[in-house]
Amino acid sequence: MNLNEIKDYFPILNQHVNGHPLVYLDSSATSQKPKSVIAALEDYYKNINSNVHRGVHTLGTKATDAYEGAREKVKTFINAKESAEVIFTRGTTASLNLVAQCYAREFLKEGDEILITQMEHHSNLIPWQQAAKKTGAVLRYIPLSPDGTLDLQIVEKAITTNTKFVSITHVSNVLGTINPIKKIAELAHQRGAIICVDAAQSAPHLKVDVQDLDCDFLAFSGHKMAGPTGIGVLYGKRNLLEEMIPYEYGGEMIDFVGLYDSTWKELPWKFEGGTPIIAGAIGLAAAIDFLEQYGLDQIRLHEENLIKYALDQLSNIEGISIYGPSQLEQRSGLITFNVDNVHPHDLATVLDSQGIAIRAGHHCCQPLMKWLNVSATARASFYLYNTEKDIDLLVDGIKTAKQYFENAIFN
Ligand SMILES: Cc1ncc(COP(=O)(O)O)c(C=O)c1O
Repeated sequence: MNLNEIKDYFPILNQHVNGHPLVYLDSSATSQKPKSVIAALEDYYKNINSNVHRGVHTLGTKATDAYEGAREKVKTFINAKESAEVIFTRGTTASLNLVAQCYAREFLKEGDEILITQMEHHSNLIPWQQAAKKTGAVLRYIPLSPDGTLDLQIVEKAITTNTKFVSITHVSNVLGTINPIKKIAELAHQRGAIICVDAAQSAPHLKVDVQDLDCDFLAFSGHKMAGPTGIGVLYGKRNLLEEMIPYEYGGEMIDFVGLYDSTWKELPWKFEGGTPIIAGAIGLAAAIDFLEQYGLDQIRLHEENLIKYALDQLSNIEGISIYGPSQLEQRSGLITFNVDNVHPHDLATVLDSQGIAIRAGHHCCQPLMKWLNVSATARASFYLYNTEKDIDLLVDGIKTAKQYFENAIFN
């Protein structure tokens, strides 16, 4: 993988911020977009902009072909059995809410158990809180191991015959933990439970194969994987999606509309009410093409090397606490940490003044902050365009910030 060449594909990275070359270390929040994705969006609006599935005119046909072609591309990317199992949504949050509304709220009942973990992003937590309130189901948490991983023996004990629904993140956006989804899916299915996977932080970085994982639902966002904002995917097994009644009604998703009743289109369109996110889907297809040029295995390898380097360099900083597992194979490409005497927001501000973009805060994981016993953390997250030099600049920046605040405190 030629790293310099990769950076050149991302025009935004070739700029100065606050007088310094930009070092972008916030890809877990949103990734940057390569020229080919920007060009695909421009091409759509310049040359084939039209609504899909409606017109018989040439542009309408071209837009429909491009939109449905994008679905086919996603199908292959995640190895779904058929493109009908790929539903386009606004993103991971929308996908998880769709499952909560149309599956959990419909099919769970009082006394059933929904099982999640304390490392979930709010988007994979609040929908289940609400589903539990609505149905009388009980929301339970699988305890985390001290290093922020899931112990399969504990998972096995936590899944009981009352467990009807399990929803787990594939990769934690705070700890970086890669969860053993395939094994958890096996355990869930042994007890007759459905498993939903939040793949917001895995689909961009690891090979995700829904048939191999044998998950029932899987959600991810285009904007975290070099694609545009406003597009995401919900994968679901056909038999489950067939059973579910849609919750967004209107144009595009109907078959027949009478005065008092209506029928829906077949999958996947019954869940895509209204004009779909046409440009977004086309941009996502271009992003998949871009990532596949390198291959998800290569991207993972590159990030593993960066993480190893970053862990080595960062752990030399006195007073730093790094969260999450220490085993590289259990970690994805992000590092969350705190530095003694420096609030993470102050650290992010000082780094920003040096052109280095990191994230500070609770990362939409307040229950996990509670588990870590902190109110906020700093997070540096990497993608295929990052280099060891970016990490060197981060480490220098942290040292400068630390010195600055320690001088302010002790002088
Ligand atoms: C693990 C995880 N789940 C869900 C989400 C929500 O994704 P989106 O805001 O694209 O819907 C995020 C976003 O940061 C995330 O990291």
